[in-house]
Amino acid sequence: MKIRVPATSANLGPGFDSCGIALSLYLFIEVIEPSEQWEIIHDLGPEVPSDATNLMIETALILAPDLEPQKIKMSSSIPLARGLGSSSSVIVAGIELANRLGQLNLSQQEKVEIATRMEGHPDNVAPAICGDFVVACYFSEKKKDNVSFVKHYFPEGDIIAFIPNQELLTVESREVLPESFSYRDAVEASAIANVMIAALIQGNLPLAAKMMQEDRWHERYRQKFVPHLASIRQICKDQEAYGCFLSGAGPTVLILSPEEKTATVMQSLKNLDATARIEQLTIDREGIQVF
Ligand code: HSE
Repeated sequence: MKIRVPATSANLGPGFDSCGIALSLYLFIEVIEPSEQWEIIHDLGPEVPSDATNLMIETALILAPDLEPQKIKMSSSIPLARGLGSSSSVIVAGIELANRLGQLNLSQQEKVEIATRMEGHPDNVAPAICGDFVVACYFSEKKKDNVSFVKHYFPEGDIIAFIPNQELLTVESREVLPESFSYRDAVEASAIANVMIAALIQGNLPLAAKMMQEDRWHERYRQKFVPHLASIRQICKDQEAYGCFLSGAGPTVLILSPEEKTATVMQSLKNLDATARIEQLTIDREGIQVF
């Protein structure tokens, strides 16, 4: 059995902890054979455990504690701690692993709820499971049936990822967010998000990107971790890209661009930071796949 889970980009600016898209970078899992103990064969570096303490196995065993240990191959093109949903992809793979090996028969709704409870917010795990563009909300105080989500087609357009060569942990990037927010500011911030989502549904990427750049919820507080964001905004303006936003908690920035501007935008991004990984990505429309 093989499992493939896409990378994800959460927030899309003002859709903080709610909106996300699935992208064409992937975590691959292959279950090889039963084994004495859990064994993960991977080349993802020493910080990724190769035994039952791997997040994927820990996740699977929460759902199905009696699973027979397996030898599993894991590979991934999703960079770690860059705001592209690498840990969400591992959680989602663990849920699917338990689902298949333990014959749990989980529905998509159940998978999204379990993954959201584990992650704390649905904006990475929901698109990783469903694919494409997902808008979700999570009421964490209720015990059951507490995630609502809608999948919709994300409009065609070029997507460029600017992936800096340094990690940023989500927990660190969440610590700088304010405890509270004035009612007036919240009304404005949510109105911007509403227009962003409506523009995406209408297929109006230029307007959606404009709203993405108007985020009030999180990007301004995270500036100190992502000094490149302001420079990339300027590049978007100068090169007439549609706009950019911080991918999840950062440090990656996604740029939305009309096709004819993409090459010059990518060149400007390279000039900004030669050490960053700059890649053109596409939307993954399917979400998690099992082969
Ligand atoms: N919505 C989350 C955040 C995504 O921005 O902190 C990253 O996990």
